[in-house]
Amino acid sequence: MIKQKCIECGKEYNVDEIVYNCECGGLLEIVYDLENLEVSRETFKNREFGVWRYKEFLPVKDENKIISLKEGNTPLYRCKNLEEIFGVKELYVKHEGANPTGSFKDRGMTVGVSLANTLNIKSVGCASTGNTSASLAAYSAKAGMNCIVLLPEGKVALGKLAQAMFYGAKVLEVMGNFDYALEMVRELANKKYVYLLNSVNPFRLEGQKTIGFEIAEQLNWDVPDRVIVPVGNAGNISAIWKGFKEFYKTGLIDSLPKMTGIQAEGANPIVRAFKKGKEDIEPYPNPETVATAIRIGNPVNAKKALRAIYESKGYAEDVSDEEILNAQKLLARKEGIFVEPASASSIAGLKKLLEEGIIDKDEKIVCITTGHGLKDPDAAIRACEKPIKVKNIDDILKIISN
Ligand code: F0G
Repeated sequence: MIKQKCIECGKEYNVDEIVYNCECGGLLEIVYDLENLEVSRETFKNREFGVWRYKEFLPVKDENKIISLKEGNTPLYRCKNLEEIFGVKELYVKHEGANPTGSFKDRGMTVGVSLANTLNIKSVGCASTGNTSASLAAYSAKAGMNCIVLLPEGKVALGKLAQAMFYGAKVLEVMGNFDYALEMVRELANKKYVYLLNSVNPFRLEGQKTIGFEIAEQLNWDVPDRVIVPVGNAGNISAIWKGFKEFYKTGLIDSLPKMTGIQAEGANPIVRAFKKGKEDIEPYPNPETVATAIRIGNPVNAKKALRAIYESKGYAEDVSDEEILNAQKLLARKEGIFVEPASASSIAGLKKLLEEGIIDKDEKIVCITTGHGLKDPDAAIRACEKPIKVKNIDDILKIISN
């Protein structure tokens, strides 16, 4: 039996109950009867790649209800040039920007929107720093649902805003930051105007845990020592850890990675809690960073994320905006991988933790890059020299010969 279960008091809820938090206030997670799950590495072998390849570990069983845009199956790049620059033995980038709407959120939405579909939901909603809204807008369009998204005014990268608008969501710009927008959409959900698809909804995280499944399979079941993840609302790092643990419990893999979360210096409540050895965060009142995707002061999944970090003997670190932008450029110019600023925080974090001696150069490391570079064209253009204007061939020759 698949259930929703409170991570604090253990109270269980059925899959078809619409609850976003336990009555005790705790976060919910989806639990399976893993002991009785008969799976082996062969189980997946002849199936299509992507999120639904791992259907035994997912909560939607009626295939007719599945809303999919063929998400997942993203590339895992071996990064030899960065290995040389950083002096590490084995470095991979799992590029989630290669998903249908350009971010890892699609993995969560295919499961969340499919689940909503099984419940005959007509209206869905979310607050978002951009990517969640782009993804929800696309999946709800395909499902024929109404979609409302609440965005922090003036702080959403242009590509993401264009997507949410173009897929046909009702876009509301909230005069305030993401944390405030999330408070409001939670109120709308509690009043039953919308079905909430932020990552407080535990079904979202079920899709996102397949990042862990894919990494294991793509590395021939030889699990990395460490997975480095950009952290905002703290759902993804929790989800990836859950994925690895489920594969471990069912005997598909025989070790677990150290989960390492990276935040921006201007939005780092989880790093602060980790460095004090705490299980809970103190909200950070005025988050600010160039990495607008992770400009979040009060992450809802903080408890799950901190548990993942402690349980896996991982780490949490913050990086400056300058370090983020440098890492973004390095990844593009040395490996040909264009990611948005928030995504580059995993690379910036790797560099910093190597310098601090927290990460060993002999480790096998996977950095998650969460969103595509085209999401935030303004940030990319700001970080580069202006194109040179030319009138004729003489101008061009002059420039080339310099
Ligand atoms: N990277 C990108 C590109 C993101 O869009 C987000 C979150 C994160 C990392 C952090 O992931 O929240 O699971 O810790 N974006 C959300 C949004 C908040 O609304 O699109 P997380």
